Amino acid sequence: MIKDTYHRTHDYLRISLTDVCNLRCFYCMPEEDYDFTPESRLMQVDEITRIARTFVDMGVTKIRLTGGEPLARKDAAEILKQLSDLPVTLTMTTNATLLHRYMDILEGCGVRSLNISLDTLKPEKFLWITRRKQFRLAMDNIHEAVRRGFHVKINAVIMKGLNDNELLDFVSWTRDYPVHVRFIEFMPFNGNRWTSNQVFTWKEMLEVIATEFPYEHLQKEPHDTAKKYRVPGHKGTFAVISTMSAPFCSGCNRMRLTADGKMKNCLFSRGETDLLSALRNGEDLEFLIRSNILQKARGLGGQMGEDFKKLDGEKIDNRSMISIGG
Ligand code: GTP
Ligand code: 5AD
Ligand code: SF4
Repeated sequence: MIKDTYHRTHDYLRISLTDVCNLRCFYCMPEEDYDFTPESRLMQVDEITRIARTFVDMGVTKIRLTGGEPLARKDAAEILKQLSDLPVTLTMTTNATLLHRYMDILEGCGVRSLNISLDTLKPEKFLWITRRKQFRLAMDNIHEAVRRGFHVKINAVIMKGLNDNELLDFVSWTRDYPVHVRFIEFMPFNGNRWTSNQVFTWKEMLEVIATEFPYEHLQKEPHDTAKKYRVPGHKGTFAVISTMSAPFCSGCNRMRLTADGKMKNCLFSRGETDLLSALRNGEDLEFLIRSNILQKARGLGGQMGEDFKKLDGEKIDNRSMISIGG
């Protein structure tokens, strides 16, 4: 078991496979040129498996693959195959645009659920947010994933004045369609020009939704990021992820590994432990992992105060989202 000083058990590892992405979402990566990590500095397939196995031996039961776009990595299939031999629930967060090439492989590796980023149901807005014309492809792949029976959660980062007017459309989508839409509060990372007045809070979201839909609360697991709801009679559900206005750190069970092999004990932690170099030097990973987790702050990497409205996005000292993996 991996425990921190606040008695939280950490059994969930998020592994970023690459910081490369085929989209260019402005809230995720710096607008100016971003230098993708050279391949020599990325974890190689066997290294990912060896580090993951160490975590599993220490009690990890769930691994989520993230990116950048995890499927943009050429050897994604081999990574999936090797990780599927471990006794864990294996899952992935993806933008869906490359899914058509991987659906069979994901099924073959026992992946049953996919979290898919989609911030708008409008093609022109998708182009504006992602700077790529891939809306149709993403949608077609979402439909195919649902048709095949994957449990599909849709991640929509809601930003004031940008897509807060689509909340009702997203909820309407769940009427006849079994997707689980999660509305996410916009979070600050290096280079994403976050300001507090762009945050559309979960309470504001629920107020908008209540104008048209009655909804009921669904049971939440202690370590869930999302507060979940269902409109009676709808096939799908909706949820809110309230990192900024109502953090949920007390139930945190997460650890992260960046594509260049650095362990982060929180999405917002500054301190990193270089597990990849340690592995290459034959050092004791277990000791390093435990030491890292003992440094974990009570919440939000110790970086944010009580009131997000007072936060200066420029002062958050972290990687950009694309190089953390979410
Ligand atoms: P599940 O494994 O299905 O619970 O997914 P998830 O919600 O943890 O992960 P996903 O990759 O789908 O991310 C959805 C949103 O939650 C993104 O905005 C993530 O950045 C955010 N998120 C994921 N993990 C954490 C976390 O540990 N803390 C915070 N504050 N946000 C997180
Ligand atoms: N704030 C909130 N969520 C974000 N994501 C990426 N950048 C941000 C941000 N600044 C989400 C993506 C993806 C998930 C891993 O993180 O939409 O679904
Ligand atoms: Fe855990 Fe950090 Fe996320 Fe809070 S912000 S839930 S402590 S990873």
